[in-house]
Amino acid sequence: MSDSKNKGKAPERREDDNDSSSNSVPSSGGATKKLSAKMLESLMESNPALKNELASMDKETAAKTLANMDVSQLLTGLSLGSTKNQKDMASYKFWQTQPVPRFDDRATQAAAPQGPIKMIDPEKVSKTPDALLEGFEWCTLDLTNENELRELYELLNNHYVEDDNAMFRFAYSQSFLHWALMSPGWKKEWHVGVRATKSRKLVASICGVPTELRVRGDRIKVTEINFLCIHKKLRSKRLAPVLIKEITRRCYLEGIYQAIYTAGIILPTPVSSCRYYHRALDWLKLYEVGFSPLPHGSTKARQISKNHLPSTTATPGLRPMESKDIDAVHDLLERYLLRFDMNQAFTREEIDHWLVYKPQAGKEQVVWAYVVEDPDTHKITDFVSFYNLESTVIDNPKHGVVRAAYLYYYASETAFTEDKSALKSRLQMLMNDALICARQAKFDVFNALTSHDNPLFLEQLKFGAGDGQLHFYLFNYRTAAIAGGINDKNLPDEKKMGGVGVVML
Ligand SMILES: CC(C)(COP(=O)(O)OP(=O)(O)OC[C@H]1O[C@@H](n2cnc3c(N)ncnc32)[C@H](O)[C@@H]1OP(=O)(O)O)[C@@H](O)C(=O)NCCC(=O)NCCS
Repeated sequence: MSDSKNKGKAPERREDDNDSSSNSVPSSGGATKKLSAKMLESLMESNPALKNELASMDKETAAKTLANMDVSQLLTGLSLGSTKNQKDMASYKFWQTQPVPRFDDRATQAAAPQGPIKMIDPEKVSKTPDALLEGFEWCTLDLTNENELRELYELLNNHYVEDDNAMFRFAYSQSFLHWALMSPGWKKEWHVGVRATKSRKLVASICGVPTELRVRGDRIKVTEINFLCIHKKLRSKRLAPVLIKEITRRCYLEGIYQAIYTAGIILPTPVSSCRYYHRALDWLKLYEVGFSPLPHGSTKARQISKNHLPSTTATPGLRPMESKDIDAVHDLLERYLLRFDMNQAFTREEIDHWLVYKPQAGKEQVVWAYVVEDPDTHKITDFVSFYNLESTVIDNPKHGVVRAAYLYYYASETAFTEDKSALKSRLQMLMNDALICARQAKFDVFNALTSHDNPLFLEQLKFGAGDGQLHFYLFNYRTAAIAGGINDKNLPDEKKMGGVGVVML
């Protein structure tokens, strides 16, 4: 499921059991020529996204494409799309006009100072939006109004991010949208919509919420941009740039001149790139919906037993987070996040909003957070959280949705001990418990990026490499590239940690 070409946040179908990805495989481009037919067949079986992409090409193009690819990347499960969609700077007709770094800035970046790319004069910011296509008009969504929340939900449910093969589409619940878009300090003006003038139908959206980031010691007020979506019938009409310019204008009017956003596609220019990893909780269901392949030489029974989890958690003192834990979690998380080059600076109010689940009749749970309370000192030593993001399974006779838990923020006091291996073993235990909790909450898959300290546990806890990347972007802000937890073979690497300490929904 996903969007490696679009948003990259949802998983592409995962690579499972990449037994073939041994280091002995040549890693230079063109090495596929040396693969035997049997190896190629096995490669295709373990990389269904690639298989589908190649199936749509004629034989000769497919052979040429394969020959030009880096076999080490193929074996780690990336689809062609994760590398193919970068254009020349000159072809980004819109983005080349915006205050974002150019691709070639990378070379000179070391010399360029970190900070805003363009100084904005608030006096010169237009007080009115640009004109829209004939027959459409701007609107500001009132998400406290159930009907308008439902309209946004319906737009996204029918037109938001899908995987390349149109098998899965993100299905953000109304509770999720409420949580994501009405965080502390939220502004109605930043919930931007476009309506068809005659029918009043909502046909496009772009939203933002305010927060603060720390980027290598600088603290910046930013808007987190999300839910850029255009009705399928209105695509390729250059409406996206108009939406982006409009939310930019509305942010400038509020005195916010920087933004953070993510996408699965390459735009000028990612500040960091992470890779998706997926841990099957209900392997059989993931297989039945076409998300997880049956690895060559394995059986369904073997896969089920490989992904089996214990029924009880192992960390002494693990329990659901409550309001009384807010201060302790806030303190721990702030210290933990300061270890990363780019991280979110939370207020107490934000911790309450983002992490503490408050049951409400008729509203589904969006976030699950657990703390570890030391049984002797009663100090909070660790915490872990995940959120619920379902995906609609398009056209499957047996299953309508896949319930995915996404790893959210976490922290552990062991990060501050001298013993570097202590954090690794602690996180392995804590995250395995998170998997168990997610399984108990009936999730089918647990997704995580290579951000934060995740390379310390992804492979050990049987997460499989996904074929989607998530690129992070900063608008109107320049800083040197930030590590995304992956190496040049696109695999999790402990030496590449310490970069991304922010989670975007
Ligand atoms: C993403 C989406 C809004 C783009 O709309 P579109 O009709 O395909 O594109 P438009 O003709 O309006 O605009 C094209 C411009 O938008 C840019 N663009 C496309 N997707 C973008 C994205 N996700 N973020 C920022 N810019 C994007 C393109 O690069 C292009 O600009 P360029 O000339 O500088 O390269 C639309 O495809 C959509 O709703 N997709 C499903 C939801 C989705 O993927 N949302 C994005 C999540 S990050």
